[in-house]
Amino acid sequence: MEILHVAAECYPVAKAGGLGDVVGALPKYQAELGHVAKVVMPMYRTKFLYDNQWELVHEGGQHIGSHYFHYSIIKEKTNKLGFDLYLVDINGLLDREKIYGYDDDTERFLSFQVAVCDWLNKWSHKPDVIHCHDHHTGLIPFMVKYALEFRDKLADIPTVFTVHNAQYQGWIGWDKYYLLPSFDSWKWGMLDWDKTINPLASAVKCAWKVTTVSHSYLDELKGAANGLENLFGYEQGKSLGILNGIDTQVWDPITDSLIAKNYDKELVEKGKRKNKKELAGQFGLDPDKPLISFIGRLVGEKAADLLPEAISQSIYQHSGHANFLVLGSGDPNLEDQLDHMNHQFKGYFNSYIGYSESLSHLMYAGSDFLLMPSRVEPCGLNQMYALRYGTVPMVRNIGGLRDTVTDMGDPEGFGIRFDQASVGDITYSVGRAIDLYNNKPDLYTWMRSHMMTIDHSWDSSAQQYIDLYQSLK
Ligand code: ADP
Ligand code: GLC
Repeated sequence: MEILHVAAECYPVAKAGGLGDVVGALPKYQAELGHVAKVVMPMYRTKFLYDNQWELVHEGGQHIGSHYFHYSIIKEKTNKLGFDLYLVDINGLLDREKIYGYDDDTERFLSFQVAVCDWLNKWSHKPDVIHCHDHHTGLIPFMVKYALEFRDKLADIPTVFTVHNAQYQGWIGWDKYYLLPSFDSWKWGMLDWDKTINPLASAVKCAWKVTTVSHSYLDELKGAANGLENLFGYEQGKSLGILNGIDTQVWDPITDSLIAKNYDKELVEKGKRKNKKELAGQFGLDPDKPLISFIGRLVGEKAADLLPEAISQSIYQHSGHANFLVLGSGDPNLEDQLDHMNHQFKGYFNSYIGYSESLSHLMYAGSDFLLMPSRVEPCGLNQMYALRYGTVPMVRNIGGLRDTVTDMGDPEGFGIRFDQASVGDITYSVGRAIDLYNNKPDLYTWMRSHMMTIDHSWDSSAQQYIDLYQSLK
C-alpha cells in the first residue's frame, strides 16, 4: 500500500512530544512491512534541515483568503529515516525555529494543509490512504471531500485520522472561514462544533476512520474530551484504539549512544548503577538512594503542577530516603518553583528546565523509577521507554498508562499504579517505591528483568494500521 502520513512533527526532524516519536517511527515500520510510507510535514528551520540533502519535487501557489502564497515541496534524498520524507516550505509562515506557539499558527497550519492538498491534486496517481495526525492536519479530511478545487480528484481517497491528544483542537473563529479554500457551503456543519470551526472535530466527522492511541483513551473520550464527548459517542462506530509502539532501534539500552553505560537484561543492575552514578554526579544527588524522575511537558495534563508539593512532602514524610530529578519545560511559574527547589532541597532534588533529548535517554537509563501522575494520558511513551530501560514506572491509572502498566501488588505486576492525580497518591506511591528498593530485592530484580522483555515495538501496531487501511479499499 502507499500511505501518506501528514503531521506537524516527526522525529528527528522536529519533535515537541510523543507525536514526533510516533510519526518518526510508524512509517518506518510500515516500510519494513513492505509498504510505501511517506511523511509530509512543514519545513521548519531545524538542524535536520541543514544537516541533510534535499531535492525539489514540486512547486505551486495557493491562497488562504486573499493572501497568495508560493510553496515548494522538497524530499530528503537518501531515505535516511527509512521512509520518504517531504517538507513543505512556505516562506515567511512555516520556516521558523519553533514548531508551535506563534500568533499566526492558524494561518501557518491552514496554509500547510492547503499546500498538501494542492500538491496531492497534482499527483499523477493517488495514494491508497491519507493518514492525518492531530488537529494541525484535521481539516484535510474535510478539504479533500468538500473543497471545490480538490474534491473531484481527491474525494475518494480514504482518510484516517489519529487523535493523539483531544485537549488541543485548533479552534478557529467563524470570522476566519474565508481563509479556507472555497467549499460546498451546505457542508459547513462538518467544520463546526459549538459555533466554532473545530479542526479536530471536523476530522472526527469527516475521516473514514478515527483512531486513538490507546484503547482506554477511546473509552475515556466519551466521558472527557474537552467538549467533544458527544461527538466521540456518535462516531464510535468508525473509531478504534490502536496502542502506540516505540522505536526499539532508537530506544535500546544495549546500543543507546546517549547513555553512560550500555546494558541488557542480564547486566541491568550494573548498567543502571553506572548510569545513575553519572546522573547523580551531574545533579548533586546520592547514587545510593532510589532515584525517582519525571520527564515531560510541565503542563496540567501531566499533573506537573503537583510536583513541587508532592516532591517536598515526599522528602519530608520519607525522611529524605529518595532523590528526585525533573526534566521538562512549560508553565513559567512552575519552572520558577522547581528552580527554587533546586536550592531548597539541594542533594535531594534537582531539575533541568528545558528540552534535552540526550539527558532524557540518560534519565531513562539511570533512574530507578519514572513518575507519571498524568490527568490525561492518551497513550504515553515515557512509561514504555522506562520499561525497556528497566526503570519502574509509577503511573496514574488512566489512558495508555492503564493499558501498559500493571501494579506490583497484582500477580506478575511490574509497576506502581495509583488512582488519583493528587499529592497524597504520589507521596504514598513514593513510599511503596522506597520500600521496594530497600526491602524487596527479589521482587525488584524480577520486575526489572521482566519489564525489559515486554515487546512494545511497533511491529504489531504497524500491522494493525495496515489492516485498517486495507478494510477501506
Ligand atoms: P506527550 O506527547 O503528551 O508530551 P509522550 O509520553 O507521548 O507525551 O511523549 C513525550 C516525549 O517527549 C518522549 O519522547 C519524552 O522523552 C519527550 N520529552 C518530553 N519532555 C522532554 C524534555 N524536556 N526533554 C527531552 N525530551 C522530552
Ligand atoms: C500525545 C499524548 C501522548 C501520546 C502522544 C503520541 O501527545 O499526550 O499521551 O503518547 O501524543 O501518540
